[in-house]
Amino acid sequence: MTPPTVWPPSRRPASSVWPCWWPSLSASPACRPPRRVVAASHRAAIAACPNPICSSRCCRWPILSLSPASADPAAFIRLHTAPAPVPLCPDIHLWQATEITPIWHATEDWLQRNGVPPPFWAFPWAGGQAVARLILDDPPLVAGKRVMDFAAGSGLIAIAAMKAGAASVTAVEIDPFAITATGLNADLNGVSITGLTQDIIGQPLSGIDILLAGDVCYERSFAEAALAWFRELARSGITVLVGDPGRAYLPSQGLEKVATFNVPTTLELEDRAVRVTDVWRVPAP
Ligand SMILES: C[S@@+](CC[C@H](N)C(=O)[O-])C[C@H]1O[C@@H](n2cnc3c(N)ncnc32)[C@H](O)[C@@H]1O
Repeated sequence: MTPPTVWPPSRRPASSVWPCWWPSLSASPACRPPRRVVAASHRAAIAACPNPICSSRCCRWPILSLSPASADPAAFIRLHTAPAPVPLCPDIHLWQATEITPIWHATEDWLQRNGVPPPFWAFPWAGGQAVARLILDDPPLVAGKRVMDFAAGSGLIAIAAMKAGAASVTAVEIDPFAITATGLNADLNGVSITGLTQDIIGQPLSGIDILLAGDVCYERSFAEAALAWFRELARSGITVLVGDPGRAYLPSQGLEKVATFNVPTTLELEDRAVRVTDVWRVPAP
């Protein structure tokens, strides 16, 4: 049997610093191309394939719309992902990238050409899964409270909070695709969530009792700004919980550990099958 070959095929640019969105949360310093194993028997078909986002399992899908995805984000999400359970919270289903969905195979170039920011919303990240699991296991943390899911991505934490009895949940994102995905995922799980597409870092919050954030420490400027703001919010009386699997810019001091979970993940996304993930409380200074 011919051994499998490892991604990338030659049409990917040969760059020592891969500009991909995929492994950008990795704590390792080098941003590497995702590890996609392509059966040798598929390589010729892949090389000939006109589908800009088809890279393996060629050629299951028709050529997908090349019109800007921003024209109809909801249609884009439904076409390129599929409902699947969240590994650590299997009662919650999300529209996700999986090996059998087209967006799993999308290149950064294709995403850019179609006006799609890096699709963080297509995965339940380890930090978000841990926070979601915590509040599902301990509903009084959010029951009857006004909750914010900051940097919501898929909206996983927001959905978990509603299922755990929150009075209301606002999901905040800078990516309009994420807010659209959150709405679709809320429908999928039969809950109602308010979406806000805005950068609110630094602003005081009124009408929020608890802010929850999953996986926000993967990029220096974002992590530093978010954590400084979280401390201000904690000082103003808002409970702030952050789920994080040891990303590069998680502060090493000044947080209180609340819980630890072994979060199932994928080799392609995280380079390991399980990530030990903590939920931290930001103490009032
Ligand atoms: C790794 S994802 C985590 C998503 C989700 N919380 C989870 O755990 O699955 C990080 C998210 O932060 C969002 N983000 C980045 N900067 C932001 C900002 N200034 N305000 C709100 N969201 C932001 C990104 O769009 C992305 O969806």
